[in-house]
Amino acid sequence: MNYETILCEIEDGIGTITLNRPKVLNAINDELLKEMSEALDIFAENQNVKVVILTGGDKVFAAGADIVFMSEASSLEAESFVRLCHETIDKITNLDKPVIAAIAGLALGGGCELTLSCDIRIAAEGTNIGLPEINLGLYPGGGGTQRLTRLVGTGWAKQLLMTGKPIDAKSALNIGLVTKVVPAQELMKEAKGLALELARKSTIAMRLMKSCIDYGENVDLPSGCLFEQKVWALLLSTDDAHEGMKAFLEKRKPDFRGR
Ligand code: HXC
Repeated sequence: MNYETILCEIEDGIGTITLNRPKVLNAINDELLKEMSEALDIFAENQNVKVVILTGGDKVFAAGADIVFMSEASSLEAESFVRLCHETIDKITNLDKPVIAAIAGLALGGGCELTLSCDIRIAAEGTNIGLPEINLGLYPGGGGTQRLTRLVGTGWAKQLLMTGKPIDAKSALNIGLVTKVVPAQELMKEAKGLALELARKSTIAMRLMKSCIDYGENVDLPSGCLFEQKVWALLLSTDDAHEGMKAFLEKRKPDFRGR
């Protein structure tokens, strides 16, 4: 898995994608999206990958979409780029494994939008997160107007989107944009620890639960609850559910096999 703009590794059941364009603060271009998309396909197929971490490492997550490219792009190039953004971001949302964003330094614009598609976001102290597109005469085109609003509510979404001012990690924690803030040097340790914890759970229960949460976000409550009921009934007959309940009754740790 050799790429130009990302690093990609699989270790201990965890697939990690690290954005890797340090000279431009991991600005997101066409190539980076294509490489990320390919890595996500590999992680989706590989049964040994139980959890995915998306990160920029311990310095900077990403300063947004590549402004050099955008400033020169024709409408057709813009259309192709924004489609690729959405396709890649949708791949993260639709991956049937948990995806953790480990965010350090900056997550701006498209960088922030990438994290919004992840299941859990943790940030290093000192990180600034925001959507400054309005200051470029733009607005976020990678799902930011939609996903941010669903995550933190209309009030905070409009505050962030309309002012374009990033907020620090502690404020992000207060509004639910991230769920944990840790010292910068502990970010990757924290992300890997969480990933290992999730990797030990039943992959099938995790997958079906993720689909219930994500499906439910886009439908009315009765439809979401009906979906949950049907999928839950299916889940109850799996080996993992039998093993989990048997292990509880036998007072031992469960040995989940993902079946
Ligand atoms: C291209 C970028 C970049 C970007 C930084 N760089 N952000 N290049 N696209 N988004 C480059 C700089 O030009 C510079 O290159 C190098 O990275 C270091 O950046 P500096 O500005 O020198 O660093 P610093 O002074 O620390 O300021 C950091 C910063 C600033 C505050 C993050 O770079 C900044 O404001 N960047 C733009 C942030 C932004 O507006 N993001 C939203 C983009 S729009 P050189 O060659 O000079 O060393 C977007 C839309 C998504 O994301 C839509 C998706 C469809």
